[in-house]
Amino acid sequence: MTSVLQVEGGHPLTGTIAVRGAKNFVPKAMVASLLADEPSELRNVPLIRDVEVVSDLLGLHGVEIDFDQDRGVMRLDPTNVKSARRADIDALGGASRIPILFCGPLLHQIGEAFIPELGGCNIGGRPIDFHLDILRRFGATVDKRPDGIHITSPASGLKGTFVELPFPSVGATEQTLLTAVRADGITILQGAAVEPEIMDLINVLQKMGAIISVDTDRTIRIEGVPHLIGYRHTSLPDRIEAASWAAAALATHGDIYVHGAHQPDMTTFLNTFRKVGGAFDIDSEGIRFYHPGGELHSIALETAVHPGFMTDWQQPLVVALTQAKGLSIVHETVYENRFGFTRALRQMGANIQVYKECLGSTPCRFGQRNFYHSAVISGPAPLHAADITVPDLRGGFSHLIAALAASGTSRVSGIDVISRGYEHFLTKLQGLDARVEYLDHQPV
Ligand code: UD1
Repeated sequence: MTSVLQVEGGHPLTGTIAVRGAKNFVPKAMVASLLADEPSELRNVPLIRDVEVVSDLLGLHGVEIDFDQDRGVMRLDPTNVKSARRADIDALGGASRIPILFCGPLLHQIGEAFIPELGGCNIGGRPIDFHLDILRRFGATVDKRPDGIHITSPASGLKGTFVELPFPSVGATEQTLLTAVRADGITILQGAAVEPEIMDLINVLQKMGAIISVDTDRTIRIEGVPHLIGYRHTSLPDRIEAASWAAAALATHGDIYVHGAHQPDMTTFLNTFRKVGGAFDIDSEGIRFYHPGGELHSIALETAVHPGFMTDWQQPLVVALTQAKGLSIVHETVYENRFGFTRALRQMGANIQVYKECLGSTPCRFGQRNFYHSAVISGPAPLHAADITVPDLRGGFSHLIAALAASGTSRVSGIDVISRGYEHFLTKLQGLDARVEYLDHQPV
């Protein structure tokens, strides 16, 4: 059943919420536990759909999981890892892109892996060519069949290799790390992504016994070891969720203290938030984000890999930019198709045009192709309520912010997508005095 949330907008969001572990890190640390032959313990684990999907997939492969949801503590025991039935894996495919990261650990543990139809957000083609090329370089055989992709390790095991990424892909960097740590010999990865979530994955792998060094020029060197031990680790907080609530505070003239928000992972976001006219106070427990009154300012913004302005911050911030005075320009350089969510914003009164040209200082991979990957936002434009449908995770949260900022009562359909990455978002919204109510069923 699709769920519909009724949102009475026009009221500032005020209060305190807490963010827990990062959606873009926790599932990967869970996968890393597969590389050991003894249990691991992960803390600060949020209750989000991606964590459930990866728990189920690990369970299918014989990993025993004990999750104390209130405390956010997860124990993962991989001592009985085994092959899973393809049909069972398939049943979970389509819900997340994380299954592809099971390949390296499974090849080391049981010599084979299977990639089902992958899910994730519909924000571009999201190919997996880098991943498959990396696995082949380690010596794996990749066999594409009608039912999915079958991957096997040679009898002599995987060998360290040289990988140069054409684009600093987060997933491909993680694929290399999770495969190289137990491959025989040295792996050099050039053009790596260096997002904070990747650095935390390296922290986990180092605790497990891996030998990994990261250079300042996006080169990562991994010395393979034959055996890894379990880890105990506390996840870094979710900087995307923190930024989403910050954007919600700005767009609704609100004031939100985000417990757990961590300044060092958000430096670029905080600079931009300040330039737009948002205010924040940082303390050791979190960050208070608020609209200080007065006008918001238009800006020119380009998304980029870390340490640039993260693509997942773009969609929530665009909603706030609809309320800024003047013309804002946003150039999306990470995904070719990440402005689909602006259709609903236009329906709500926002003034947004999308363009195929690179409207930024850095010509990107999408400039010569047929993708609407730049946007010009003219504001301030009063938003009014509408009936809208959530397109993807971040776009969906942006719709929610727009509905909360708009005058009148909106109905937002397909809202469950948001639970893939935002823990207890309805309870959090209610705690911030939002006037929201489900029209049909209660979500998880
Ligand atoms: C991760 C994050 C996502 C974030 C993105 C970029 C998770 C679960 N998701 O996604 O929230 O927006 O990083 O910061 O961590 N590409 C290829 N071939 C490949 C792989 C990627 O062409 O085999 C391209 C993609 O189409 C995209 C770009 O590389 O244009 C970046 O993708 P990537 O960094 O791999 O994103 P994910 O790891 O899927």
